[in-house]
Amino acid sequence: MIDSFEKIPVRIAKTPKDGARLVALEMATLIKEKQSLGQQCVLGLATGSTPIGLYAELVKLHKEEGLSFKNVVTFNLDEYYTIERDAFQSYWSFMHRHLFNHVDILPENINIPNGELPKEGIKQYCRQYEETIEKAGGIDLQILGIGNNGHIGFNEPGSSLFSITRLVTLENSTRIANARDFQGISQVPRMAITMGISTILKAKKVILMAWGNKSAIVAESVEGIVTEQVPASILQQHHDCTFVIDELASGDLTRFKSPWLAGGCEWTNQMIKRAVVNTSLKLNKPILSLTTNDYNENGLSDLIVEKGDSYEINLQVYYMLRDSITGWPGGKPNVHIPAHPERSSPYPKRCLVFSPHPDDDIISMGGTFMRLVEQGHDVHVAYQTSGNIAVTDEFVTRFMDFAVGFEHMFDIDSNKSQQILKEAKSYLSSKKLHQADSADIRAIKGLIRRCEAKATARYVGLKDEQIHFLNLPFYETGTIEKNPMGEKDIEITMKMLRALKPQQIYCAGDLADPHGTHKVCLDIVFESMRRLKAAGDDWVKDCWVWLYKGAWQEWDIDEIEMAIPMSPDQVVKKRFGIFIHQSQKDAVPFQGSDTREFWQRAEVRNAGTANLYAQLGMTKYAAMEAFVRWKY
Ligand code: F6R
Repeated sequence: MIDSFEKIPVRIAKTPKDGARLVALEMATLIKEKQSLGQQCVLGLATGSTPIGLYAELVKLHKEEGLSFKNVVTFNLDEYYTIERDAFQSYWSFMHRHLFNHVDILPENINIPNGELPKEGIKQYCRQYEETIEKAGGIDLQILGIGNNGHIGFNEPGSSLFSITRLVTLENSTRIANARDFQGISQVPRMAITMGISTILKAKKVILMAWGNKSAIVAESVEGIVTEQVPASILQQHHDCTFVIDELASGDLTRFKSPWLAGGCEWTNQMIKRAVVNTSLKLNKPILSLTTNDYNENGLSDLIVEKGDSYEINLQVYYMLRDSITGWPGGKPNVHIPAHPERSSPYPKRCLVFSPHPDDDIISMGGTFMRLVEQGHDVHVAYQTSGNIAVTDEFVTRFMDFAVGFEHMFDIDSNKSQQILKEAKSYLSSKKLHQADSADIRAIKGLIRRCEAKATARYVGLKDEQIHFLNLPFYETGTIEKNPMGEKDIEITMKMLRALKPQQIYCAGDLADPHGTHKVCLDIVFESMRRLKAAGDDWVKDCWVWLYKGAWQEWDIDEIEMAIPMSPDQVVKKRFGIFIHQSQKDAVPFQGSDTREFWQRAEVRNAGTANLYAQLGMTKYAAMEAFVRWKY
């Protein structure tokens, strides 16, 4: 169905895995159809995090259902320039790692732009790439991902509609986004060879996939004007293009974000809250000042017709927002406040904070963490992963120097630690770019982060027996690519939960982080809770789960169910708590697209939430942390 706002058909799968399966089946059908006609099937392929699940599904279809790739010819969209073909980060390696090494495609049928050629030969080479596509009969099905700036292939904003395969310069935002695969932005190549927009438009069929946090650019591409500034919007001009996205990536489409504009919606309390909050923010008017005219002029006449009086609606939303604010995250003891986000009893509560990395607890909910402790709850923290890949090598030798010096100072035999230090120094000095650390180095890096986490938890007021390190095995690959959630991860988490029987849990609810560590950590908690519930563990019924967002973003204001205000002093106290994570200060490896330090991000975000509440007409606090309840 093409919704009136959507100019490209959009298929929405529940999860990225479902979406990948759907596309894989469509590809398999095409490959088999071509096989039965004795023809080759020409596929245009993409790299990046998006198609990893698709390739896994194709490999599965090959292994379990005998799907053959003998008649398949592939053309990859792009390759970094310059990059050695065999480098871990090259798209050549990526494609072999995820697909080609596991299926029966003929090596001579694989075409990936060559990122090693001298510059003089590139123009000629690109022309040949186009000719080879034409000679193969053109691309039958082109798979695309999308950059947050709307790029397709490496056609950055401003790329011409008529562009063909060529050498391009990567936008800084693209290099920052892709820095996750390299150890830092400076190592990301500055250029790439990419098929052009016109090359892509010539494909007979195009499928663009997008998961999770791509919702804004998906909506812009599908609903916005066609412009070279948003290359993916040009796909509106293709006669057979479909977007396959997951539910999270669909969140900014008008039919979901503002369904009242897309032809009627059911006015649930949540929907009313969203519509009124959005209108209030858009008009920059406090909620209680919105008039019937404001409703009518902003697509909400339907709501007025259904509910009657605008002021009544204003009040309803105002109370919802007001009641989400509390200084008592564990519930206020000995009083009965029905609209309070948490129950007042039992008091005190056993609370468990799950922290995916060793610093997410303090960064994302440090103020709440401290309040829970101050208000007398039995607060525990469980660090889910070791976080060992995000420590620079310099820290290893610095801390080992300390260990050797410490032993020496107290006449402890330091021969062994000196030996380990010597080996570490020699290992690190000959370590190649992108080489994974040895098990010893990883263990030392993990220890460094554990000590920082312990120091922070103590600073918050926890005793050692309230600090738990789960060291979930899915994380321990030594590289950025992690394993999926495994049985052992669930077993460890269930054991922790059963031992504590918490009445309140906090975890990082980064739902739109399909390939990241936070999402896996969240899935592990969800799955553990589901299993415990199914197993009849009684305490689970009385356990409430609150989700905070990790370091990267915040809940939409209309989603927030519990907002914990912070005083200016608490903001500073939280900042000092974040500072304790020294290995994460300044330039950390795998910084991502935001170059600010974690404490800066946390402060801007918490102040931002407080400001939005104030803009809506609530009391203005210095900062606020925000939570959404997960009902399972
Ligand atoms: C990759 C490519 C790029 C990516 C895009 C999204 O071959 O051409 O356009 O599809 O940058 O990347 P991910 O999927 O990593 O978010």
